[in-house]
Amino acid sequence: MSERTFPEDFVWGAATAAYQIEGAVTEGGRGPSIWDTFSHTPGRTHEGDTGDVAVDHYHRWREDVALMAGLGLDAYRFSISWPRVQPGGRGPLNPEGVGFYRALAGELAAAGINPVVTLYHWDLPQELQDAGGWTNRETAYAFAGYARAMARELGDLVEVWTTLNEPWCSAYLGYASGVHAPGVTDPAAALAAAHHLNLAHGLAAAAIREELGDDANVSIALNLHVTRPADPERAADLEAAHEVDLVGNHIFLGPLLDGSYPVELRELTSSVTDWSFVQEGDLALIRQRLDVLGVNYYSTNYVRRLGPGERPTGTGGHGDSAASPWVGLDTVEFLAPRGPVTAMGWNIEPEGLHELLTALTIAYDGLPLMITENGAAFDDTVGADGAVQDPERQDYLYRHIDAVGRAIDDGADVRGYFLWSLLDNFEWAYGYAKRFGIVRVDYATQERTPKASARWYSELVRSGVLRP
Ligand code: NOJ
Repeated sequence: MSERTFPEDFVWGAATAAYQIEGAVTEGGRGPSIWDTFSHTPGRTHEGDTGDVAVDHYHRWREDVALMAGLGLDAYRFSISWPRVQPGGRGPLNPEGVGFYRALAGELAAAGINPVVTLYHWDLPQELQDAGGWTNRETAYAFAGYARAMARELGDLVEVWTTLNEPWCSAYLGYASGVHAPGVTDPAAALAAAHHLNLAHGLAAAAIREELGDDANVSIALNLHVTRPADPERAADLEAAHEVDLVGNHIFLGPLLDGSYPVELRELTSSVTDWSFVQEGDLALIRQRLDVLGVNYYSTNYVRRLGPGERPTGTGGHGDSAASPWVGLDTVEFLAPRGPVTAMGWNIEPEGLHELLTALTIAYDGLPLMITENGAAFDDTVGADGAVQDPERQDYLYRHIDAVGRAIDDGADVRGYFLWSLLDNFEWAYGYAKRFGIVRVDYATQERTPKASARWYSELVRSGVLRP
């Protein structure tokens, strides 16, 4: 294991999301979101955990900014809770909610930390869900209205606007497997949702640039899947991996960057939907200039083509549900990981990140990239002295950041790295059972304690030199 020096202007940050950290769900004029409804529905989350309190960031944000400043972070990626700033998802803004994010962004700037905003990290206002959520085309227009309003309200404080976080999860986990809010299990709805999310991105990008000028920086964060055939010699497995690439990746990359949905994707899903939700002109609206593509990376998948009569079992590490998130892939089996895994059961394969970054660079001609999420959950233990030694997390981070460095060496234009996550937090359906933070949170007292990995990361951020 060797040392490596990153470019001087490389951005080092950490990421969070509103529903996972804020709490205060009924305070300050916030309206309900689909995650409030979902997490309060019995059986939906681990032990019925909710984001009601989370890590109380809504009240402790100054302390959290001070924590980030102490670590020396260059940037902080956080999301705006749509129902906090526009409770009904349309119509009047909630000044108190807007004020919260203005204060947060201002405090960050004062601490020399660049705010990187995500507009949608899964907490759709419940009122919009009541009208169909992402299956309703109107939600895309509502999102653009919200994006425009945020550009107007926060444009002087925010440099990079990330429209959506992991629309794959919103569409497929939300509407196909149902392990995320709104908990629907309808494959056709999932594909309609994916399209409307793409449309929402395009409309929002245009709205942001109308408000702030054409040079406003727009991004989207995708969880692109690196998928390998179980047997690389077996044509059927290679084909299965290619199908995952279509349904998991090109359903977004296609319209965002190529201006179309791949014909093969439409064919693969033709028994599910006729794609009539794609209207004339939509593809032109979706394909807006992307200043930087956000890449969220955790793991790889191994797949094999099922024989006649075999039914798929695994979901690729995305929760237990009778329904698969993988619409159209009834003959693809996701294999259980073989090597070392994190507490999520996700295999650890840093090479996948290197491969992904170099492949994107070749496919999209040097497109600027940003690692908007990377990190790992492990079952941390608190020592007798109160300290948390988390060597597995540190090793995971070291090896993935090294993979980013190798991709840069190989020509990828990677601008920065945001670690997931700054704090232990509400891990969606897994509730508080999975800890991704480099800072431990004691959920009983809300006390924050930097783990050993936080000290290690801080050293990297300050020196720009990666050491094991
Ligand atoms: C992806 C999501 O964006 C984030 O909210 C989640 O906590 C992490 N991955 C870990 O699963």
